[in-house]
Amino acid sequence: MVHPRVLRAMAAPLIGHLDPAFVTMMEDVKALLRLVFATANPLTIPISGTGSAGMEACLVNLLEPGDECVVGVNGVFGTRMAEVAERAGATVVRVEAPWGRVVHPEQIGIALRGCRRPKLVALVHAETSTGAWQPLEQPAQLAHEHGALFLADCVTSLGGVPVEIDRWEIDAAYSGTQKCLSCPPGLSPLTFGPRALDVLTRRRTKVQSWYLDLSLLAQYWGEERVYHHTAPISMNYALREALRMVADEGLGPRFARHRRNHEALAAGLTAIGLGLHAEERHRLPMLNAITVPEGVDEARVRGQLLADHGIEIGGGLGPLRGRVWRIGLMGESSRAAHVLAVLAALEGALRREGMRLAPGAAVAAATSVYEA
Ligand SMILES: Cc1ncc(COP(=O)(O)O)c(C=O)c1O
Repeated sequence: MVHPRVLRAMAAPLIGHLDPAFVTMMEDVKALLRLVFATANPLTIPISGTGSAGMEACLVNLLEPGDECVVGVNGVFGTRMAEVAERAGATVVRVEAPWGRVVHPEQIGIALRGCRRPKLVALVHAETSTGAWQPLEQPAQLAHEHGALFLADCVTSLGGVPVEIDRWEIDAAYSGTQKCLSCPPGLSPLTFGPRALDVLTRRRTKVQSWYLDLSLLAQYWGEERVYHHTAPISMNYALREALRMVADEGLGPRFARHRRNHEALAAGLTAIGLGLHAEERHRLPMLNAITVPEGVDEARVRGQLLADHGIEIGGGLGPLRGRVWRIGLMGESSRAAHVLAVLAALEGALRREGMRLAPGAAVAAATSVYEA
């Protein structure tokens, strides 16, 4: 959900992409993005495009044909990173883990030792297709020990759980506006650290994408203010307002809110015998993948929640299609009222599917988490 403050910001009158007022706004957006990414990187900007544009920007700027790139693949978005890296001409080493599990540092170490000269290690911090929460610190360290850069997909994690670009020594990362930042889709926050910039400036070949070439984009977002492409003005208004809301709430309280609502949801689900798909120690608070019980028509349940309660939950993707539901509790949507409403609605839908459940059990369990 998007807060009315953000919607109002989008309706503000338009100005030019080089208007002094817009230039001031660009600086605000950069400063606020540095705050949420916990970085001092000067090249921290929104890419015009959705999260996939940020993914593509990172990979095409850092990789050249023939480079070796190690990618963690344990869901839809790791698979996508591997595909994009391949299209950039890299030799991709896929490090696979079952969907719902995380990629272990030992696996990354083995892959790196098998490379001649690894250029990049890439992992998804919050795998939206499975609900798995990938630790990044150790993999980043391993990448550096082997002389490689480390790239993190923070599309779903940014603004919902800690993302510590500088402390964890992440060289490049990207996100999306429509997840825990609670902004419409359309921009992809990106940050490049000094090692990534160094690789960019020492490229042998031109970046294959003109639109996503960061050395050109840096001239528009940096002091030169050279026109590159027409910035989506209203989306930048929206992002600035959404980021101000993150800053007003404070990162710590925001992360705690996401965690608490996840705990309440999980307690409610457990009370009616539903299990979460991701491994227990690595469950995301903002994306809850639930195993569909035997004999239940998962699509019918989703349809009922939408038609009868106006609640949209996601289905499974790829190999998890038909096997899980995905409940997002992101940004503005991470609210106690939503947790209680979805539990009550789900309980009712499951009874209609023939499950014998005591009315109110899920809501009671979630309420006891809020009252603790
Ligand atoms: C983890 C992750 N990475 C990348 C993407 C791609 O983002 P977009 O759909 O905004 O292009 C998504 C979208 O859901 C995502 O969840």
